[in-house]
Amino acid sequence: MTYPSGQLDGRVALVTGAGRGIGQEIALELARRGASIVVHYSGSEAGALDTVAQIEAFGGTAAVQQADVSIRSDVIKMFEAIDHMHSRLDIVVNSAGVSGGGGLAELDEWQLEWMLGVNLCGPLFVASEAATRLGDGGRIINLSSSLAEYPMAGAGVYSATKAAVKSFTESWSRELGKRGVTVNTVIPGATSPGMMDSAPEGAFEFFKSASPFDRVGRAGEIAAVVAFLASAEASWVSGAHILANGAANT
Ligand SMILES: NC(=O)c1ccc[n+]([C@@H]2O[C@H](COP(=O)([O-])OP(=O)(O)OC[C@H]3O[C@@H](n4cnc5c(N)ncnc54)[C@H](OP(=O)(O)O)[C@@H]3O)[C@@H](O)[C@H]2O)c1
Repeated sequence: MTYPSGQLDGRVALVTGAGRGIGQEIALELARRGASIVVHYSGSEAGALDTVAQIEAFGGTAAVQQADVSIRSDVIKMFEAIDHMHSRLDIVVNSAGVSGGGGLAELDEWQLEWMLGVNLCGPLFVASEAATRLGDGGRIINLSSSLAEYPMAGAGVYSATKAAVKSFTESWSRELGKRGVTVNTVIPGATSPGMMDSAPEGAFEFFKSASPFDRVGRAGEIAAVVAFLASAEASWVSGAHILANGAANT
């Protein structure tokens, strides 16, 4: 594949959850297009260092930053560290996210707090810091899920957090549009590598057969949509939700 390299030259992008899965592919894709990447991770330090190594191997620039996005003080510290590293911030991708399940009768409060913390408070804390730093041409790209479009039995909390992300996108796009910043959602269907790989047995076949392409998505295919939204070509796309799920009906 050839990349429109240079498209994001001079831009600085923060990608959360970039030590593995979809976030890692997004970091690599934005770097291939010329952006300097802040590779965020929470627990996957080795993965984050691998992302940096892969970026440096093709001549890009990247550095790691650790934070638990569900803890606001952690997020603030991360942005202060970014301020010391870079004089600007152009693109913020909220990819970090967690999934869990359980039927109504098995509601686990710890899991509820964890999912609300990472999936709902996380993007909010990150965007709140980004809001004061992003300028004209800035981008916020939030990752939702096709399970917000097609909620499944037993995954209600995950779906609700991912539906909330779409609501954030619409509100923030109206707030930050005044400053020339676009805010959009990418909605992946089942995607590998990513959280889909640790889904219960049978899930892979289920999601594969839900798409007329008879496969699940590739993380690079999600990264390509994010890269479009990050580009100058997407300057008039804001408050939008782009479904990237191979026409799956779930
Ligand atoms: N893969 C799919 O099938 C799929 C489908 C629809 C939507 N999505 C969405 O796409 C996004 C990326 O998912 P993925 O498939 O790449 O997931 P993944 O492979 O399971 O990775 C989850 C990411 O979230 C980060 N994370 C978890 N808890 C965190 C915390 N407390 N603070 C900061 N970061 C934390 C992890 O960082 P560490 O590893 O460093 O801890 C990791 O990078 C998520 O928002 C997810 O909801 C995925």
